[in-house]
Amino acid sequence: MTDRKKTYEELRSARWMAPDDFRSFGHRSRIMQMGYAPEDWEGRPVIAILNTWSDIQPCHAHFKDRVEWVKRGILQEGGLPIELPTLSLSENFVKPTTMLYRNMLAMETEELLRSHPVDGAVLMGGCDKTTPGLVMGAVSMGLPFIFLPAGPMLRGNYAGQVLGSGTDSFKYWDERRAGTITKEEWQGVEGGIARSYGHCMTMGTASTMTAIAEALGLTLPGASSIPAADSNHQRMAAACGRRAVEMVWEDLTPDRILTEAAVTNAVTVAMATGCSTNAIIHLIAMARRAGIPLELDDLDRIGRATPVIANVRPTGKGYLMEDFFYAGGLRALMKNLAEKLDTSALTVSGRTLGEGIETAKVFNDDVIRPLDNPVYHEGSLAVLRGNLAPDGAVIKPAACAPEYRVHAGPALVADSYDELKAIINDEDHPMTPDTVLVLRNAGPQGGPGMPEWGMIPMPKALLKKGYRDMVRMSDARMSGTSYGACILHVAPEAYVGGPLALLRNGDIVELDVPNRTLNMRVSDQEIAARRAAWQPPEPRYGRGYGVMFSKHIMQANEGCDFDFLLTEAGPKVPEPAI
Ligand code: FES
Ligand code: MG
Repeated sequence: MTDRKKTYEELRSARWMAPDDFRSFGHRSRIMQMGYAPEDWEGRPVIAILNTWSDIQPCHAHFKDRVEWVKRGILQEGGLPIELPTLSLSENFVKPTTMLYRNMLAMETEELLRSHPVDGAVLMGGCDKTTPGLVMGAVSMGLPFIFLPAGPMLRGNYAGQVLGSGTDSFKYWDERRAGTITKEEWQGVEGGIARSYGHCMTMGTASTMTAIAEALGLTLPGASSIPAADSNHQRMAAACGRRAVEMVWEDLTPDRILTEAAVTNAVTVAMATGCSTNAIIHLIAMARRAGIPLELDDLDRIGRATPVIANVRPTGKGYLMEDFFYAGGLRALMKNLAEKLDTSALTVSGRTLGEGIETAKVFNDDVIRPLDNPVYHEGSLAVLRGNLAPDGAVIKPAACAPEYRVHAGPALVADSYDELKAIINDEDHPMTPDTVLVLRNAGPQGGPGMPEWGMIPMPKALLKKGYRDMVRMSDARMSGTSYGACILHVAPEAYVGGPLALLRNGDIVELDVPNRTLNMRVSDQEIAARRAAWQPPEPRYGRGYGVMFSKHIMQANEGCDFDFLLTEAGPKVPEPAI
């Protein structure tokens, strides 16, 4: 039985619906226009369902139906469901990159909730940026909410091979470019790699971010691992609806859930899953919206103390999210990790994280490893600093060949993606496996939007000789399903004059992952001389959203939020006048 801390008159929606005045007459007559009767709203919390469905969002294709299950749960518990469609941010189709629009979704989420007569929310997301976008906005608004993860799609399958999203596309693409598979085989991979609705089923950005949402306490226990096509997902959706109504009565607002302990738990879980490099940016952005000043160094520190125990591609070798679910899912992983978590953290369920994982079990300890038999001995992400990245850069050491973790080699620099393409397609390029291939002007402002160009494709000149990895460096991001010796998120970015802008062909780049350093072997005097000669590039935009984006976007180490959206940017936004 829900502990009612609020009366109906105290609910936010009652300000719109209850008063005996002219404005409320307008609201009531207009909701009656849609066929509702007073019994539908009187005494009931109104729950917004923010649905990131669209006709071109394959990861959320089931949300058109799944939302009906959420509504059913809300009605069962005595609430009134209101579906509000939002930007759907389809990772594959939205160009130049969904990252350009994550903050737009966050703004939309916050303002939709603020401007409508709603008391709480269910957020439906899962494809990469949708999770942080929805969470950031809802945290800033502060209404009770619950996150409904889309769930991973089924394993890919082609010619008896299990295929993983992204990861295997990159692998087979390298083989196609090396000429070792036929066009027909390639088409077979195309039809088999994504064969149900749901988000990418590797431990890419989507699976990482929904796991983070669960570890933060923002989903029902176990919700993030349920495959989209499993009927448990419908039941979970209805349960989200019921629980959202209860949360409104309990006044379970996000500030009670998103504490420092919850954020630390989420970082720990992210590291143990072998998380996507994108998670770093989103974790920082989400934590800061909750007023918790998470820094890159916190992530590195927690990473060093947390082994990767999810044996899921791309960091792990064999398995995919469907296997992870059958092996016990995130609850089981957190159970193995419990000694490193603050299990007293509160979750949207109204119970603690510890209570949520109490009965969890591991059913396959090759998929979900014990702490003493990890996939990788420390967390999958490392933060590098040095004269090339004074504000930090990241690398996924577990996903790169061990011989590249300490490396020195000459830079080969591309100033744009077109320049890069010419280099990687030149079969006779005189580069060597020691070369450090660099792409710059691909950061938050330069990209613009920091596109996922950071897993620079292996150049044909090296593929031809049998090489499948080399050190690559950029101020871009890379897909969470990527792998290789890729240094990413170099900050500050080249486009705003970060030292990466000053690097020249042939300069020796020194990478030392164990010592967390990234330097160019160039003297301070020479760097100063190059800086004095550096000319800032033309602005990317002259009008439109891009102008606002370029003016307010922060660097990768700060989470790429807009400066004016930070909690400390100004006083709390007032409730709208009615
Ligand atoms: Fe949507 Fe990968 S494309 S999660
Ligand atoms: Mg992605």
